[in-house]
Amino acid sequence: MKAHFQVITLFPLMIETLFGEGVVGQARKKGLIDLSLINPREFTEDVHKTVDDRPFGGGDGMIGMAEPLWQAWQKARAQDSETELIYLSPQGETLTDTLVKELALRPRLTLLCGRYGGVDQRLIEKTGAREISIGDYVLSGGEIGAAVLIDTISRQIPGVLGHADSAVRESFAGGLLEAPQFTRPREWQGLSVPEMLMSGNHAKIEEWRRWVSILVTLAKRPDLSKLEELSRKERQKLRQFFEGLSGQDKVLLGLEDLASEELDG
Ligand SMILES: C[S@@+](CC[C@H](N)C(=O)[O-])C[C@H]1O[C@@H](n2cnc3c(N)ncnc32)[C@H](O)[C@@H]1O
Repeated sequence: MKAHFQVITLFPLMIETLFGEGVVGQARKKGLIDLSLINPREFTEDVHKTVDDRPFGGGDGMIGMAEPLWQAWQKARAQDSETELIYLSPQGETLTDTLVKELALRPRLTLLCGRYGGVDQRLIEKTGAREISIGDYVLSGGEIGAAVLIDTISRQIPGVLGHADSAVRESFAGGLLEAPQFTRPREWQGLSVPEMLMSGNHAKIEEWRRWVSILVTLAKRPDLSKLEELSRKERQKLRQFFEGLSGQDKVLLGLEDLASEELDG
């Protein structure tokens, strides 16, 4: 499967710069991802290439005019008849790992970036654009949001990440955060890497990581994972595992504030 992202933006260089390198840059070179940039200024007829105007009814900020954005959308559709339009907007549904995975099933997307005061609402109405927000705050423009979508969706495209299972283990996969990672040296500033990771026993390491993952999720993001979802037996095992961790490992893994009693659910 190949992804095709088209970005409607007044600042194409912002997107091009970000995705000339790194994981997405490599995937573009491998032909796994196509990225097209469409500047609404292409579709203006006046000498100043005007793409925005003052809001009717008064107020601050300039509003993106519907017509150049509409023309830009027509170009996107001409380039890919199956593309779907997303308007990056603080008012949209909030991006989550689940939504990223949903979008990655059909990664033929046109991302419309607003600027200044936003865009004329009639454009959203006429195009039926899906509104997506990257969080409850206001950005100066949609480019950073578009970049977040391109980056997160691309990671789900087969072949984009080096190892087939890289995205499977990462945080949020299976509703859990990833277990903390360590690399050389084995000792650093008086802290040593948890013994288990040195054991060379891959099955045991996998099991250790799974328990740590559950504990870390309970400690950092209790909203993501509920103890009640574990069977009574699993909860007992989890408690035993937690009690078996050394004091240093508990600190290192950020679990020092968890109490065994909390693990009884
Ligand atoms: C300054 S904002 C406009 C905000 C608009 N006046 C409002 O209050 O809803 C300019 C552009 O940034 C983008 N933007 C701002 N916050 C965003 C967010 N949280 N997620 C995605 N895009 C956002 C949108 O494309 C928006 O049109």
